[in-house]
Order: sequence, then structure tokens, then C-alpha cells
Amino acid sequence: MPANILDGNKIAAEIRAEAAADARALAAAGTRPGLAVVLVGNNPASEIYVRGKVKSCEAVGIYSEQHTPGESSSTEELLKLVADLNRRDEIDGILVQLPLPRQVDSKKVLISVDPAKDVDGFHPMNVGLLSTQRPGLAPCTPAGIMEMLGRSGIKIAGAEAVVVGRSDIVGKPMAMLLLNANATVTVCHSKTHDLPGVCRRADILVAAIGRAGMITKDFVRAGATVIDVGMNRVADPVEFSRLFAGNRKREETFQAKGSVLVGDVHPEIAEVAGAITPVPGGVGPLTIAMLMANTVKAAKMRRGTGARESLVV
Ligand code: GUN
Repeated sequence: MPANILDGNKIAAEIRAEAAADARALAAAGTRPGLAVVLVGNNPASEIYVRGKVKSCEAVGIYSEQHTPGESSSTEELLKLVADLNRRDEIDGILVQLPLPRQVDSKKVLISVDPAKDVDGFHPMNVGLLSTQRPGLAPCTPAGIMEMLGRSGIKIAGAEAVVVGRSDIVGKPMAMLLLNANATVTVCHSKTHDLPGVCRRADILVAAIGRAGMITKDFVRAGATVIDVGMNRVADPVEFSRLFAGNRKREETFQAKGSVLVGDVHPEIAEVAGAITPVPGGVGPLTIAMLMANTVKAAKMRRGTGARESLVV
């Protein structure tokens, strides 16, 4: 039986609609949520991501503003910008798009964001709140994956979950969220022995490695749920044909554009898995939807309007 396709666009639309309803209620109370996005320099991929984030704010009814310091910005200049945004009451969320230029001390900049406005969930305070199961702000991509699993009726408690990749942005917080939801979690990385064997244990396999089509059939147990966080551009014809030989639609795209977007999961796993996320249209749309949800959550927590609990511990 072919795998069930988990539709990220559909679930993202549900999350956006909920965030929009909350944003309207906050605006009616005179406290429209606001997000400041900081895009440093001119990384083309970051420019595309940031455009998507700002557009989504408009659709959801969140005030947004974009700050675009130049490529040669110093750590001190960025610290000053963040300090200004921390002080402004109408700004509920601050997002510093990564990667930052090489001369900038990223860790210093990220720790300068007020944890209550840290809608990316990257501040060590939020990392600690997540790991100790206190209310806070969790990173958008893994939080979106949890929403996708939950809303698709995939059972997490008691499941064997394997996360491939240990980044601060996806792998580590993903593992923590799954653990908090009572999965048995294994985190794999480049030094893991017998990676296919470890992955085959998974009921839920999350691939966040950044290598096109690396997760092949021999990594996947029959019926497993496979979540593909990868977003890789493949332009090499040999690599293209390893992934998509015989796929007419993809061949047409490759002919027309000279490249295709591919996740970390090989398309052949659709023959084995129980459920998969497509690329594009899987995890990607959820990341931005969760940014909207986190901005509304930050507004509620800071302004004390319907917040469940405060970030202050
Ligand atoms: N760069 C790649 N992913 C992300 C993300 O989720 N947040 C930020 N701020 N930068 C990123």
C-alpha cells in the first residue's frame, strides 16, 4: 500500500487560521501582535525565507517590520538593534534570520534577544524551559512537526522515534519535544554506527541532515512515519537520476529549470513507509505557520491576555 502523504500546506492553513483568530481578538483588545524580522546582508535563500515570513504576517493580521543591516554589520551594531527591539512594547516577536555573516558572533546576538520575544526558541532560556517542560517558546520547525503528527493522528507516546541530525535549530529540539511527548528517542549523527539499522527501529523517523535523498528504503521499517526536514537543490544529472529516474513530472521540471528541490529522504521510501511528508509542501509550510503561532503566543504571554502562564519562572 503506498504511504499516506501528510499535507503540510493543509495543516499549516489550519494553524494560520487559528493564529489569525487569536490575532484578531488581540487587535480588538488594542494589542495587535507585532513581529520584527532582522535580515543581515544578502543571502539569497534567507531573502526568500524572510519574504515568506513577512507575507504570512500580512495574511494572519500580525504587524511586521523588516530590518536589513548590511553584510558588513558588526556584532555590536546588531546588539544595539536587538536592544531597541527588546525595549519596544509593540514588538512581541524578534527573529534574527540565520546564518549571520561570518564576522558576527551569532551566539552573542541570539542570547541578547529577550527570551519572552524569542519566537524562534533559540535563546538558552527557552532551550532550558523546553528541556524542563516549562511553558516557553519552542523552535518553529520541530514544533510544526509535532503539530503535524498530532493533527494526523500519529501516536507518539510509547513510539520509537529516531531523529537523524543534531542541530540546535531542528534535531535537538525535535528530540526534546518527542521525549516530552513520551516517545523513546534516539538521536543520530555523522558518527553513528550502523545508521540504517538504528533508523529501522523507528516508528517515527525524522530526517534533518541536509543530504539529498540519503534516507533510502533500507533505513525504513514497513509502516513507519517518515518526516523529511531536508530541502536540497539537486542540479547534477547523475544524482537526479538516482532519485527520480522514471518520474515524468520531476523530469519535466529538471529539463525546464536545470534543478529540482529534494528532501533528505529518497522518494522510493513511499513504497515502504506508512506516512511521509512531501518536499516541497511538507514540513516547510509548517515552519512559517508556527512562527505566526509563536508570535501570537508571545503576545499573549507578555501582555497577560489569555496567557496560560508567564515565561517568568
Ligand atoms: N535559518 C534557517 N532556518 C531558520 C529558522 O528557523 N529561524 C531563523 N531565524 N533562521 C533560520
